[in-house]
Amino acid sequence: MLSFVYPPAVYGFFALLPQLGLVPEEGERIRILDLGAGGSRPPMALFAEHGYAAIGVDIDPERVDLARRAGEDRALDLNICAGDMCALPFQDHSFHAAYEFYSMCHLSRADHALAIGEMMRVLKPGGVCFLGFMGRDSWPLFGLEAGCGEIVFNEGGKDVLHSIFVEDEPDAFFSAWEILRKETVVQRRLHNWRVTSREEWEAMYDPERIAMSREAWLETYEERMERVNYTHYFYTIRRLDGS
Ligand SMILES: C[S@@+](CC[C@H](N)C(=O)[O-])C[C@H]1O[C@@H](n2cnc3c(N)ncnc32)[C@H](O)[C@@H]1O
Repeated sequence: MLSFVYPPAVYGFFALLPQLGLVPEEGERIRILDLGAGGSRPPMALFAEHGYAAIGVDIDPERVDLARRAGEDRALDLNICAGDMCALPFQDHSFHAAYEFYSMCHLSRADHALAIGEMMRVLKPGGVCFLGFMGRDSWPLFGLEAGCGEIVFNEGGKDVLHSIFVEDEPDAFFSAWEILRKETVVQRRLHNWRVTSREEWEAMYDPERIAMSREAWLETYEERMERVNYTHYFYTIRRLDGS
């Protein structure tokens, strides 16, 4: 069975851990929490395969099952349970590290603060955390802005909330943390858009989800290669001692 292939941010955090002193071979097992860990390509498998005690939580029991089954297919017994990242079912100071990949962006902006508070609570003093925020300049945004910085996308017939931020705006969440690293990642997915025909582009238009007129949308066809992007601001942060 082939290994999973993850987005680059997953490998970036994985590779950084030893530099932060979190080397799996040394002493007690290093406990790492994945928030929003479910689905059929669970990043926690990478950490589990390399000797970390990887623990996952996801609000959707079906996605918890998908992750378990994906692990079993690779002879990995993944330690993942159902739970809300805004009310984590774990004790204070019980993890060396925590991360989320493309999960927190589904919370309301108010819930971002709750989830970050929960990461702080479950981390040991000095524990590290990796998390990301979706950028406001991501385009196209297939949804209408519901509240300030919150958009509901229609994904496969389901309404899915996304919160969006401008660059550096998330710094405000981290007054009780040390920011170790900030990265802005823009995915262009050019291949997908290059093969989109004019007819397919037209068919994507839905006035209830795209905040521009049909004419304005059609005019974007030629420039789609320059405009299409999916921006994320990634932060690596450390819990300050005494927090
Ligand atoms: C786009 S998927 C990303 C999954 C995985 N992190 C990955 O990289 O493949 C977002 C995940 O976040 C989960 N999620 C959304 N809100 C959550 C919450 N409040 N608590 C825990 N998980 C949540 C969803 O169920 C979903 O599995």
